[in-house]
Amino acid sequence: MYKIAVIPGDGTGPEVIAEALKALKTVSQKYGFKYETTSYDFGGQRYLKTGETLSDKDIEELKKYNAILLGAIGHPDVPPGILEKGVLLKARFGLDQYINLRPVRLYPGVETPLKNKGPKEIDYCVIRENTGDQYTGAGGFSMKGTPHEVAIQSAIYSRHQVDRCLRYAFEYTRKYGKKAQGKGEHNTLALVGKTNVLTYIYDLWDRAFHEMGAKDYPDIKREYFHVDATCMWMVKSPEWFDVLVTGNMFGDIITDLGAITQGGMGLAAGGNINPEGVSMFEPIGGSAPKYTGLGVINPLAAICAAGMMLETLGEQAAADKIEEAVKYVTANKLKSMAAGNMGYSTSEVGDLVCERIVS
Ligand code: IPM
Ligand code: MN
Repeated sequence: MYKIAVIPGDGTGPEVIAEALKALKTVSQKYGFKYETTSYDFGGQRYLKTGETLSDKDIEELKKYNAILLGAIGHPDVPPGILEKGVLLKARFGLDQYINLRPVRLYPGVETPLKNKGPKEIDYCVIRENTGDQYTGAGGFSMKGTPHEVAIQSAIYSRHQVDRCLRYAFEYTRKYGKKAQGKGEHNTLALVGKTNVLTYIYDLWDRAFHEMGAKDYPDIKREYFHVDATCMWMVKSPEWFDVLVTGNMFGDIITDLGAITQGGMGLAAGGNINPEGVSMFEPIGGSAPKYTGLGVINPLAAICAAGMMLETLGEQAAADKIEEAVKYVTANKLKSMAAGNMGYSTSEVGDLVCERIVS
């Protein structure tokens, strides 16, 4: 029996989570696993009412679950930073979800802004370190508000943080790389960095990467790309990539670029993973306030997030079925992936996925 905490959150979060839960129920009946869900109201609404975000006590409570499914956090009436730091980043840090797994996969029938590229070319995965870098919040102001004001926000990495992320990335590449999937000659892990300028942080990453690779993963091909060049190749030659690993800040930036190449935020899902603890899965698009309550938002990213959750829980067949059903729906049913233009409502898209799961 899996215990799953559900945080529908703000804006369109509850609408897409409802469809993800529908798909979860349908696959659970087909594959015969059991789960129970508990819903939590963390997010903007609750903050506006009570001033609370996510407390240390809430983190302890969340540790009791096998996984967390999150809709979206963000509210137009709450100033930037409060909910991001208070809920989303608090959960990632508090639960030590040190991996942010973000596949970049173009599904059949989905339009990409990349010319002459299709599902065969856009098929790779970004492993973003999720606990370090500028995200630790180390820094501050001095002489704030004066013409001489100084602001510092430091990028911080320890060898331990880098090593555990690289370990996950090598293991992931061995299991899910292009060779393992029968799609290529090698399983390839590429480090994305900036060794020519960030000569401390990415020097550490680069040494750790090659040491670990040479010692424990001689079967995995290693590559290195600067982050700026990576952005260029993600547009020009995405077929070069298999698995990419990078720090938190670069990972944040390049995965938005990746998401748009795979058809946009309606389809991009990610997992905040603690391989030894509780992981949290989310559609990576935001709360989309302007579409809230209209039943027009695309729920496929949330459904894919539920699929990633099942994969992490070890329900591989059910996870594969969700992905297959989503691909079937994108290839054969939806007119467009964009909110309001799908040709179906949010809940009808959920129904289409469920019909395919049972068929
Ligand atoms: C993401 C988001 C978050 C991040 C924000 C909302 C804090 O952009 O999940 O990529 O920067 O990690
Ligand atoms: Mn982001």
